[in-house]
Amino acid sequence: MLNCIKTLVAFVVVVSAFSCGQKTQPYNKGINITPKPLELVSKNGKFILKKSTVFVAGNEALSTIADFFIAKINRATGYALGKSSEKNSDNSIELAIVAGLTVNDEGYLLDVSSNGIQIKAKTPQGIFYGMQTLMQLLPAEIESQKPVVTEWLIPCLSVRDEPRFKYRGQHLDVCRHFFDLEYIKKQMDVLAMFKINKFHWHLTDDQGWRIESKKYPQINRISTQRTEGEGNTYGPYFYTFEQIREIVAYARERFIEIIPEIELPGHGVAALAACPELSCTGGHFEVRNIWGVANDVYCAGNDATIAFLTDIIEEVIPLFDSKYFHIGGDECPKIRWEKCPKCQARIKQEKLKDEHELQSWVVAQIEKVLLKHNKKMIGWDEILEGGLATSATVMSWRGEQGGIDAANLGHDVIMTPGNWLYLDHYQGNSAVEYPTIGGYTTLEETYGYEPLPKGLDSNKAHHILGAQANEWTEYIHSPQHCEYMAFPRMIALAEVTWSAKEQRDYKDFERRIDNLSVRLDAHNINYHIPIPEQKSTRTVNHVAFIDSALIDLTTTRPMKIVYTLDGSEPDQNSAEYRQPFRFTANATLKVRSVMLSGKMSRVRTIEIEKQTYAPALSAEPTNVFKAEYYKGKHLKVAELNGKTPDETEQIADPKQYKYHVGDYAEVYERDLCSTVVSGYFSVPADGIYYLSSLADELWIDGKLQISNEGQLKKGAASDKTIALAKGVHAIKAIRLGNIIKGWPSQWDNSFWQISDK
Ligand code: ACM
Ligand code: ZN
Repeated sequence: MLNCIKTLVAFVVVVSAFSCGQKTQPYNKGINITPKPLELVSKNGKFILKKSTVFVAGNEALSTIADFFIAKINRATGYALGKSSEKNSDNSIELAIVAGLTVNDEGYLLDVSSNGIQIKAKTPQGIFYGMQTLMQLLPAEIESQKPVVTEWLIPCLSVRDEPRFKYRGQHLDVCRHFFDLEYIKKQMDVLAMFKINKFHWHLTDDQGWRIESKKYPQINRISTQRTEGEGNTYGPYFYTFEQIREIVAYARERFIEIIPEIELPGHGVAALAACPELSCTGGHFEVRNIWGVANDVYCAGNDATIAFLTDIIEEVIPLFDSKYFHIGGDECPKIRWEKCPKCQARIKQEKLKDEHELQSWVVAQIEKVLLKHNKKMIGWDEILEGGLATSATVMSWRGEQGGIDAANLGHDVIMTPGNWLYLDHYQGNSAVEYPTIGGYTTLEETYGYEPLPKGLDSNKAHHILGAQANEWTEYIHSPQHCEYMAFPRMIALAEVTWSAKEQRDYKDFERRIDNLSVRLDAHNINYHIPIPEQKSTRTVNHVAFIDSALIDLTTTRPMKIVYTLDGSEPDQNSAEYRQPFRFTANATLKVRSVMLSGKMSRVRTIEIEKQTYAPALSAEPTNVFKAEYYKGKHLKVAELNGKTPDETEQIADPKQYKYHVGDYAEVYERDLCSTVVSGYFSVPADGIYYLSSLADELWIDGKLQISNEGQLKKGAASDKTIALAKGVHAIKAIRLGNIIKGWPSQWDNSFWQISDK
């Protein structure tokens, strides 16, 4: 009898270890290692991480890594794991540096069996990555910041893994919007989980200078803040030397190298505001409060410019331990140099051909400074244009050609082409996403990027060091938004740069995102969750119909979609979308997507409205529009009420309004002007038409159809459809003269778009 009870107890214990307690969460199923390892062989059995599990770390570097993961495991499990320099227990995680392994310097071998785990690598960095892989074999809850009760099981397997590329990077612009120390540290924590090893820190630009200068205190005072178009002050924001050192050390612990960028010879208006004598014209300058490219750049003919840049660079160099230093070099207009006597004298004196060679001359001066300090220079691909500095590494951003050319010339290259790797691009339809600077790059497109460009000589492939995703922050105002744009596309980049080409498989990556997202949740990362879009019609939030409206939904990757029709916010228990809707009466449809963890996307509201065709006017169609101009800055349409226009003219095309200045041209407060365009248009048949406008107000037949007042006009997501009868209709658009979030309305020339598609 006693024997029998013992057997029963043993049985119960075994059952509880493997199947009682929490059932495996759906997102924890399968192997979720990301980036995907080179080779993985599954074996039978499990290793159980317990209170008594011990790290074996035979030297100081390994001991530091063990401490890092002991602390992480402690947060999630509550266990205080031990550490020893020699193996004396079976339940151990043994870290060992071994020469001569068949992996590269960042690679590792991982072996998990039920009675022990071994990680071997040639370097501590390889060990660190082996440990990150081990974390990903545990339930996603291992990233939790407070203890979780679950079974900490690791499947038995062996992995041989190494990165395909040495350079696996993220860039962040902290000039347009500033991100504090805590934010940067949090990013380091999660980037390290995915084996990202470079962080390119864009520290200076026209709209702000974000690093202290001890030698030029006026920079700290003046260049670190701006008065925005709306009138508020942004800043002062900058990192002190001490803070920079703190971040560099924090990143180093996570095997991330931080590469500083000090931009030259363009994108320097913030510095010129403090040091106008370094410009061609002498100023006056304000820290720029609009985006785009400024014509005012450092004067290349002035020796003081080179002295200033040298001083700054020599202040910055000792703060960083990367062998690289980024000097910018992109988007430097030459129009000031063309007219500047000093710049022209420099061209003559140095026997340069033109202003492009003058730019290369400036870069070559800075290269000498960097070489003196044993730093390798990186520049954006424009540095190719007037002849490439001998030691330069090129970042190819305007496409792949710069990278191909530089590699064929024997230079190292980092691929960052906009079409695939710009994190400021839309990742879903603009009608459902927050406004961005433009572009459209889905997760799948980022994932599909191949860093070795077609057209590159195969014997030059070794010059492609890797790839980087860039996050410019003109339209990214908050840390939460910054994460929303970066994740999960940054994780796709991690797999693009780490995993072997033949291992990459987008469908499998998509599957793993549910698990990875729970890990990101533990770090409070606000990643993007696809929002439902229309599938077979345009994605608009106001849908007009006559007889019925079809709404079918899709997402940029497969997601469960939930909805409500009673105006309430959908939650994960709301009805699941399974088939298209056919509406025959007015409705409010609210939709959102749900992850396997239950986490949901933002809610999208679609108004569906039964209309009759708006009757046509008896007027004849005309090919002219009246444009009325009201000089000055106006924040509200009501400010124009009762005012007489300063000028009026007839124009054949609304795009040709007088005060449109072209994308990214300079616009100063004194140039602001509101424009009202009115006239007629005709439609060829009764129908439902698509209507889109970036104007503050758009009126059709005397009815307000679109209002964007006070919104960032560039991103106005207020497109709609509308029922119009065949014939002529009246239209009026009001565009206010102002600058909202760095976007002057006078950069836009599209007043409206009406089409039947
Ligand atoms: C860049 O995106 N201007 C490098
Ligand atoms: Zn000059």
